[in-house]
Amino acid sequence: MRSDFFKYQAQTSPHPLGMEIDHAKGSYIFDTKNNAYLDFVAGVSACPLGHNHPKVVSAIKEQLDKYMHVMVYGEYIQTPAVALTKLLAKNLPESLSKTYLTNSGTEAIEGALKLAKRATGRSELIAANKAYHGNTMGAMSVMGFEERKQAFRPLLPDVTFIDFNSNQDLSKITTKTACVILETIQGGAGFIEPKNNYLLKVKKRCIEVGALLILDEIQPGIGRTGKLFGFEHYDCVPDILVTGKGLGGGMPIGAFTASNALMELLQDKPKLGHITTFGGHPVIAASALATLREITESRLMQQTIEKEELIKSLLVHPLIQEIRGKGLMLALITPSEAIATALILKAQNNGLILFWLLFEPKAVRITPPLTISKNEIKIGCYIIMDILNNIDE
Ligand SMILES: Cc1ncc(COP(=O)(O)O)c(C=O)c1O
Repeated sequence: MRSDFFKYQAQTSPHPLGMEIDHAKGSYIFDTKNNAYLDFVAGVSACPLGHNHPKVVSAIKEQLDKYMHVMVYGEYIQTPAVALTKLLAKNLPESLSKTYLTNSGTEAIEGALKLAKRATGRSELIAANKAYHGNTMGAMSVMGFEERKQAFRPLLPDVTFIDFNSNQDLSKITTKTACVILETIQGGAGFIEPKNNYLLKVKKRCIEVGALLILDEIQPGIGRTGKLFGFEHYDCVPDILVTGKGLGGGMPIGAFTASNALMELLQDKPKLGHITTFGGHPVIAASALATLREITESRLMQQTIEKEELIKSLLVHPLIQEIRGKGLMLALITPSEAIATALILKAQNNGLILFWLLFEPKAVRITPPLTISKNEIKIGCYIIMDILNNIDE
C-alpha cells in the first residue's frame, strides 16, 4: 500500500507522515500493525466527537438505508439538510437565520465572498495578513501569505490586506469595500486571538462604510473554543458566518449563514447565485446533524474549558514559550522550527499524534476531539513532556 500511495495518490509535500491506517475509534487511530495512536489533532479540528462516534455512525447508516444523492442543491426537500440548517439557526443570533450547505470550507468561503459582492455591488475584499481561508482561487486570493500564492497568480483583483488586531489599519476599510473577511481566531498564523475588542471595532467600521463582516469559524466553530461559535467570546455577530470542518463530524462539509434578506439575493440577478451538485448531501447532513445535536445537548463545551486548563497545567516546560489559543484549539510555541518538528515526529513514534500549523513553523497543534478524556489528556501530555525533556536542542 505504501508504494501505491506514493505512486498513484498525488502528494503535496515531499514528506507526508505516511501512517497506514487500519481503523479509528474514540480518541485513538490504529495503524495496520495495530499500533494505537492517541489523537491530539482530530483530523485538523474536523472530528469534534472523536472517531466513529456511535451516534454519528448510526445517523449515517440510517440515512444510507433511506437515500443518498437525489438532486442538486436546493431543489428537493430533504430532511437531514432542513433539520441541520434549522438547528444551526436555533443556536445562532436571529440575524443568522439561513444557511447554505457546501462540500468544503473553501467552497463556503467562495459563497460568502460572492454574497458580499452581490449584496454591496462592490468589488474590494479586505482580509488579514497571515489569514487562511481555503485553497480555491477566491479563498486563496484572501489568504495572507504571499509565498504560497505567487505561483497561482493572477488571483482575484481588488484584495487589500490589513494586520489582524491593528486599529490603525481599520481606516483601510472604506465605502469601496464589499466585505472584511477574518478568522475569529487566526489559525494558520499561530492561533492568534482578537485583542481589545478588535472584532467589534471592525464591525463598527463596516457598519459606518456599508461593508459586510464575514467571520470564518471553520476551525474555532462547533464548540472547539468552549462556546458553539468563537464570536460568542467577543460579542461580535458577523453579517456572514462561515463554518465547516467539525460541523461534519468527520464528513466533508462547509456552510455559510446570513440573514434571510441577504441570502435571498442568491435567488435573483442572477438566479442560482451559487450552484453545487452535492452541497447539503443527505448522508453528510445526517452526520452533521447528529454531531451538532450531541455538542449542543451534552456538556462537552463546558468541559472544553476544564480540559484547556488541564493541558496548560501539565505542559509547563522551558521549551514551551507560550500556549496560545482557546479551549481545545491550542498551539504550543517552541523556540524553533527544528524543535517543533522534532516534537511532532517523535510524538508519532511514541503513539501520540501532533501536527504543524500552516504559517507558524515554531508552533505545534493541539486540537484533540472534544470527547477526549482527562486521563487521555494526561497520557498525551506526559508523552510531550518526556520528549521535550530528552530533545537535542
Ligand atoms: C480557517 C479556515 N478556513 C477555511 C479552511 C478551508 O476549509 P476546507 O479545507 O474544508 O476547504 C480551513 C481549513 O483548514 C480553515 O482552517
